[in-house]
Amino acid sequence: MGSALLGEVDSPGDKSISHRALIFASLAEGRSELSGLLESEDTLATSRACEQLGAKIERRGERTFISGLGGVLKRPPTGFLEMGNSGTAIRLLAGVLCGQGFSTTLSGDTSLNRRPMRRVVEPLTLMGADIRSTGQGTAPLVVNVCAGLTGIEYASPVASAQIKSCVLLAGLFASGVTRVTEPRLSRDHTERMLPVFGVDMPGPCSVTGGSRLKAADFTVPGDVSSAVFPLAAAAMMTGSKVISLQTGLNPTRVGFLRCLEEMGAQLEIVKHTFPGTEPVGDIQVTFNDRLQAIDVPETRVPEMIDELPLLMAVAATAEGVSRIRGAAELRVKESDRLAVMASGLRALGVELVEYPDGMDIKGGSISGGCVDAAGDHRCAMSLALLGLVATGSVKVDNAEYIATSYPEFSADMNRLGASMRMDTDGLQRPAS
Ligand code: S3P
Repeated sequence: MGSALLGEVDSPGDKSISHRALIFASLAEGRSELSGLLESEDTLATSRACEQLGAKIERRGERTFISGLGGVLKRPPTGFLEMGNSGTAIRLLAGVLCGQGFSTTLSGDTSLNRRPMRRVVEPLTLMGADIRSTGQGTAPLVVNVCAGLTGIEYASPVASAQIKSCVLLAGLFASGVTRVTEPRLSRDHTERMLPVFGVDMPGPCSVTGGSRLKAADFTVPGDVSSAVFPLAAAAMMTGSKVISLQTGLNPTRVGFLRCLEEMGAQLEIVKHTFPGTEPVGDIQVTFNDRLQAIDVPETRVPEMIDELPLLMAVAATAEGVSRIRGAAELRVKESDRLAVMASGLRALGVELVEYPDGMDIKGGSISGGCVDAAGDHRCAMSLALLGLVATGSVKVDNAEYIATSYPEFSADMNRLGASMRMDTDGLQRPAS
């Protein structure tokens, strides 16, 4: 068992917003200045791809300057675009690239090349794109020159910001208006940010073809999806108090914070401001008492889609049985997150029942053990946190992908008083 966690964390730049800022500034006319961008494996993949397409990107300390392409992508990238582990990067750039006058191939690592791409290939094909996936509907994606794109009204079957953003970005290069609706609102950063980069939206979640992006100065807030790890740890560990500074509080992203509060954590938002497109605040979590189980409302799932592995870990320490349903999307993330978390939690002595779209988790004591994060950053960090409250040490294998979203994770946790070690072979565990 670890000791109390105390202090402040500067959470890393928001990953979703960083991808968009890099892509929008690279497409724009003029020179943008971006502050607070996340520097991680995922955003480096996007940044490299934008440079391959001709954008000039210069990083000076905290600030990044991008001279954009002026809305016209004149030449094909040198070689294919390697998007690493990032679903956001490949799906958003597929939208950008399918309306251009050159062919491109987009690919990723083993995990990304297993993830479903028909969800973007289908709407882009409806718009007139010539885009091909493998027979299994996965990347590599080959984008060929087409006769031109036509705007569509697309009713996405999935609440997915990646699908929505992909179609809207293709819509910028299509004729007429493109509009996307979805079964539930997914994160809305694209809709908030496009107007900042000069795009007039003619209606909700709509763009008019031919709109040109213009350079902007833009500040990326801290990533609530990273901040939740130290905050959740504070909620689980007696005597803890952790503050995550200037963190994004977009209503489409705060489902986990609401759950944590409902489970009994003492949560307070201070210095709540709205400096740009996103609400931001300092989030303070103080240990209250043992957390109570929760029945996660299905309607909240899109607002905490990336935080569900962490909720499973937290639920494993809470009193009672927690219930998650309506989360089948977790099976097609960086890993099958339901399967990876179920096997990790079982290895630490947790009783649970796995369902096709969720899990019931009985809270109790956590034993030490060895678990496999299967190369999934969020599962790795969620399981590593359990090492802080376990009766023995917890070793997480295949945890090196933490660097895709939160390279400073173990350093931040240790600064607050935890005891974690990232070994060169990618192991993450509390040192005994
Ligand atoms: C993201 C959207 C979400 C999320 C991912 C980032 C984005 O995926 O899981 O980590 O930046 O648009 P879906 O939109 O596919 O649910």
